[in-house]
Amino acid sequence: MYKDFFKLQNYPFGVTANPKYLYWSRGHEEALSFLIFGIEMRKGFILLTGEIGAGKTTVCRALAETLSDAYRTAFVFNPNLSELELLETIVEDFGIKPERKSRKGYFDALNRFLIGRNQEGQTAMLIIDEAQNLSRRALEQVRLLSNLESAESKLLQIILVGQPELRDTLGDPRLTQLKQRITVSYHLKPLERDEVGRYIDHRLTVARSGEEEKGKFTIYKGNELRFEPTTYDLIYDFSNGIPRLINSICDKALLAAFVKETWIITDELITEAQNEAQGIKVEGVFQ
Ligand SMILES: Nc1ncnc2c1ncn2[C@@H]1O[C@H](COP(=O)(O)OP(=O)(O)OP(=O)(O)O)[C@@H](O)[C@H]1O
Ligand SMILES: [Mg+2]
Repeated sequence: MYKDFFKLQNYPFGVTANPKYLYWSRGHEEALSFLIFGIEMRKGFILLTGEIGAGKTTVCRALAETLSDAYRTAFVFNPNLSELELLETIVEDFGIKPERKSRKGYFDALNRFLIGRNQEGQTAMLIIDEAQNLSRRALEQVRLLSNLESAESKLLQIILVGQPELRDTLGDPRLTQLKQRITVSYHLKPLERDEVGRYIDHRLTVARSGEEEKGKFTIYKGNELRFEPTTYDLIYDFSNGIPRLINSICDKALLAAFVKETWIITDELITEAQNEAQGIKVEGVFQ
């Protein structure tokens, strides 16, 4: 579709949390630093929250890619699980084969695995994404995992990732024990107004498969897809800097530009895309 028309290798504004496209905004960079700090200091429990679509999953994927072989990571993406299923998922993701498929069987196998990793100088890490969906009982189960420790430090570093309501859930007095164990926490904010243009430019550069030019805007030559700089403000106003919303608008604008056979993304195209995103039909562009 429009990919070939604009001479792109990939679609620049996809919806997957692909770390290849990661633009290091101030917030995203800080979030990663906090996570690394928490893990390296073996703080045990780390909390990462952020608005819907702010980039939490993307940051976690980038974290997993950044860490060396000295780290072993289990990722839970869908925590809509019973306590037992949650344990099973964690054990499987670490590649552990428990002797018995019971709560005790999983716990014992995990404990042995973690002690082994610790003896070999490795750090084991558990990332639970969408943790706002964990039931209170499952959260309690996660807390019990954090009890696995050696004389010196926690054997498992747990990162809970979720939307802002996760903080409310953790405010439940019945979860005080868990809340008290969270020593590092970070709230990922949307992009700032001045970051929107660089974010868009960065995603376009990656989609062209070119090397990222750090800190510089691309210099355009001739017939190349480009956003008029005035569009950035419009996009910010619509999206409040939420990357997923920025992607959605930009993707629609590119499609509209393709239909009109133009290379330049204007304010008009962005406004049409916004109307489309809000469900307002615009004659002739989106059918
Ligand atoms: N810093 C960034 N650089 C490039 N793309 C980003 C960045 N942050 C987010 N995105 C993009 O925005 C979209 C949403 O990101 P992601 O899925 O990580 O958000 P989330 O916070 O995990 O959302 P949810 O609350 O729904 O779980 C993805 O397409 C992702 O690639
Ligand atoms: Mg996510």
